[in-house]
Formats: sequence, structure tokens, C-alpha cells
Amino acid sequence: MAERSLIFAANWKMNYGPSEARAFAQKFLPLTAPAEGRNLWFFPPAVSIGALSESMKSRSDVTIGAQNVHWEPKGPFTGGISIPMVKEAGARLTLVGHSERRHMFGETDDQVAKKTRAALSSGITPLVCVGETLAERDGGRTEQVIVRQLGSVLQALKVDDWSRVVLAYEPVWAIGTGKNASPDDAAQIHELIRMELGRNSVGVRVPILYGGSVSKDNVAELLTRPQIDGVLVGGASLQAEGWADLVEKGSKAKVRPSGWHDAVEG
Ligand code: PGA
Repeated sequence: MAERSLIFAANWKMNYGPSEARAFAQKFLPLTAPAEGRNLWFFPPAVSIGALSESMKSRSDVTIGAQNVHWEPKGPFTGGISIPMVKEAGARLTLVGHSERRHMFGETDDQVAKKTRAALSSGITPLVCVGETLAERDGGRTEQVIVRQLGSVLQALKVDDWSRVVLAYEPVWAIGTGKNASPDDAAQIHELIRMELGRNSVGVRVPILYGGSVSKDNVAELLTRPQIDGVLVGGASLQAEGWADLVEKGSKAKVRPSGWHDAVEG
């Protein structure tokens, strides 16, 4: 049986300038060897994209991305960074719609859709994040929120574009809180996302990562679910040794056959 491909994505948020990014690479690279079907993605702050790309250029399993971009290629947008700029610095990916952008910086579904479309038309891969807040979850609105967030992206893209999109399900209540979604809950939302894509005629299997308090202790269990194609990790990606350990532990996870259920185990 062919092994699946896994993505381990490190979202450094507002941590590590260029010299710290270089020091991380020096420590991290000897701790992991490239492995078939395993992709290591790093999202450093924009000013460190160049340094990290340069430091990791020997590794074909590593791809560098931006945490945020503007949808316009240039212009009077003080503080903005365009896709051509991050691309020139070495980025081949960008996060779009991370919950901190949505909830702390007021990013709207419409802006998320514009950024996703702009990334695709400039030839970089968008990693689009969706997820509900605790109030939305407690109010029974998880499904509705995910469908709405996905809906604006679906509207902005053509069906064929989806072969170059990656999604992340990150429940807001799980980010940086130490409370991860259970593997079954995460898998269920991933199923819901796939059904929604299918309902909108997206025929390709879009990779979906889970994010929110992923750690070296829960990564292997999360990745036993065939619906989960990788992880998007903040806090636990910041120390080179810890991140390498998490990547190794996650890589060993074996997919459970579909239909497997906790209740039927021993
Ligand atoms: P966390 O963050 O792993 O620190 O919960 C995940 C994210 O925000 O992408």
C-alpha cells in the first residue's frame, strides 16, 4: 500500500528575525533527514524569509512560506507585503486567513478570498485556514462557520484552481491553548470540508492539515486519521529539537483503516 504524503508546517508567528532563523536552520537540519513523502514547511516572519530560504536551500523537502500577503502586487498599502516580494525572497507558499489575522486584524472572508486568488495567479501555493471560535462551537455553529469561510474562497476560485490549494482546519479555541481537537472531531470536520468541496464540484483531493495545540505528544494519534494530511503548528515548532522530535513522531503514525473507531479497540 502506498504511504501517504504528510505535511509538517511550522508557523513561527512573530518570532525569529533573520539571525535567529539561520541559527534555527543550523540546529534543525542535522536532526532530520529528507524522507520520501514528507514535506517540511516553514512560515517565518516576512523579514526572515530570505535568510531561512538561503539556510535551507540544500533541502528539497523544505519549502518556505509567508504568513500573510497583500492581494495587490504593489501600491500605496503602508505595511503591506506583496506576493511578488515574498516570492523574490524565496517563498513558495503563503498562509491565508490564519485566525489571528481574521480575529486580531479584522481580515474578512472577502479579503481571504482575494489573497487566495492572488497567490494562485502569482504561482505560489495558498494554505488557507478555516476554523470556528469557542462561542461558535458552543452555539452549535461550527459547520455553518466553516461552510461560510470556505464559501467565499469557493466563489473566488475556478474548480481547476483547487489542485494547487492546501487547507488547514484550525479551531480558534485550540490555538495556543493546549487544548487540541480530538482526532475524531478533527477528522469529522475534515470530512465536512471535503463534502463541501465535493458539493461544489471540486474533484481533486485537497490536502487538509489540522492545527491547534499540536504537540509531540498528540501528533502521532492525530495523524492516524486518514482524513488528516498533516499539521500546522505554532508553539511546538519554535525549538529546533522539539520540532524535529514532533516531525519524527508524526512521521511514524500509521493510517487507521477507514471505519476504525475508538470503541472497537480492545
Ligand atoms: P499552536 O498554533 O500550535 O501554538 O496552537 C497553531 C497555529 O496558530 O497555526
